[in-house]
Amino acid sequence: MADQGIKTQDWDTFRAEAQRMLEAALDQMQQAAERPWQPVPDDIDARYAVQAEARGPQETVDRIIADVLPYHGGNTHPRFWGWVQGSGLASDLIASVAAAAVNANMGGRDHGANYMERAVVDWTRRKMGMPEGASGLLVTGTSQATVIAFQAARLRALPDLRKRGQGDGRLTAYAGEGVHNATLKAVELLGIGSDNLRKVPLVDGRMDCAALAEMVAQDRAAGALPFLVVGTAGSVDLGLFDDLNALADAAAELGLWLHVDGAFGAWTRIAAEPYRSLSDGIGRADSIALDFHKWMYVGYDCGMALIRNEAEHRAAFAARPSYLEGAERGLAGGEPWFCDYGIDLSRGNRALKVWTALETYGEAAFSEAITGNCGLAALMAAEVAAQPKMALAAPVVSNVCVFTARADLPPDAQSRLNAEIAQVLQESGEAVFSTTRVDGRVLLRAAITNHRSRAPDVRAAIVAVAREADERAGV
Ligand SMILES: Cc1ncc(COP(=O)(O)O)c(C=O)c1O
Repeated sequence: MADQGIKTQDWDTFRAEAQRMLEAALDQMQQAAERPWQPVPDDIDARYAVQAEARGPQETVDRIIADVLPYHGGNTHPRFWGWVQGSGLASDLIASVAAAAVNANMGGRDHGANYMERAVVDWTRRKMGMPEGASGLLVTGTSQATVIAFQAARLRALPDLRKRGQGDGRLTAYAGEGVHNATLKAVELLGIGSDNLRKVPLVDGRMDCAALAEMVAQDRAAGALPFLVVGTAGSVDLGLFDDLNALADAAAELGLWLHVDGAFGAWTRIAAEPYRSLSDGIGRADSIALDFHKWMYVGYDCGMALIRNEAEHRAAFAARPSYLEGAERGLAGGEPWFCDYGIDLSRGNRALKVWTALETYGEAAFSEAITGNCGLAALMAAEVAAQPKMALAAPVVSNVCVFTARADLPPDAQSRLNAEIAQVLQESGEAVFSTTRVDGRVLLRAAITNHRSRAPDVRAAIVAVAREADERAGV
């Protein structure tokens, strides 16, 4: 069936094909446990080559079902724990259909989706314990949220920044060893320079505030402008948390903007104890970057920048040239506009998938899943400890478990073996671990941000690691 122009001539056929696509998508989600990651076929480039020949919805849906759905990234599978990836929710299907139907541009103007984003920002603000009046916006993820927060922080330090640039002022920022690369990227992107991001040593897995104070004093004495300290709620390698109350005290005393990278760990705010208190003090930050697409399981992409002082947030980005002037009434009403709080003028509707998730399943279900993920990381640690030749790299604090399959081998052999096991289990579809290095040794790493994982998944995965380790110990 070839349409003439972009018009849909035959709505009956289109409706049937769209419903077929929805059914296939529902099957994909319902059968997530039977559909692990698999390598893409050799001819994938040929399959995806753009033909642009108006073959109509039927053939296009056939191709999506045959060539797209099978070759996903695996993160919907219950034994996927690589990197820090969320598992995606069935409610995303409902939200994405509705979002596509209205095609909202969330840069501004007076339409419903912007009010919904404000409701989502407000719910998140309350969960994080930030005061009323704090502002925020949904973004692609923590990487972008970090840039937005740092720009606001930079503007506090250099009020003429937007007009005059950074000039000769040498801004310096501080973060604990183990801070995520998103902080480094933002520092580089904003022209602060990676040399001016000071890595503060950790004591017991938390930033050493005395060392921070010393480094700030030294930099000030050398003529630099210390302006920002980045706390971590959930470090990417080991799931560690800074003492955010201590950091808030230190930041106030030292005159620094406190930003918290809470990409996944911020969500311990809605977990049960002992995990909730890991992020105590997060609401005292000047800014928080967090993701819904990690530990709230919402589909990609969806993160948030939250900024304590709305005026500082707005001052960093607001710009309304004549073609974007607002109005008292009509579509150009609806102030404030989100384009005044971030980088993007045109923005997609991320709010709907967060709202749909919360309204469909309820906060308590997320709380239970997040707490449960920490319980599974603890279980994984216990299973590792029970294996005679495995060993943990560090105690499990939250939802991240890092270990070696064979602690009895020399470090180089461990590295080769752990890397090999990660690949073999990914390829067999049994489990997805990623790897990281601690003190130069490659280790297996599970970051459990997966609402589909259960205790038998963890047990089976560790048995599979032990089996592969025994078979391959000579590698
Ligand atoms: C602690 C931490 N910060 C920042 C990021 C970057 O977040 P995003 O991938 O949403 O940009 C990640 C990603 O894993 C992370 O774990």
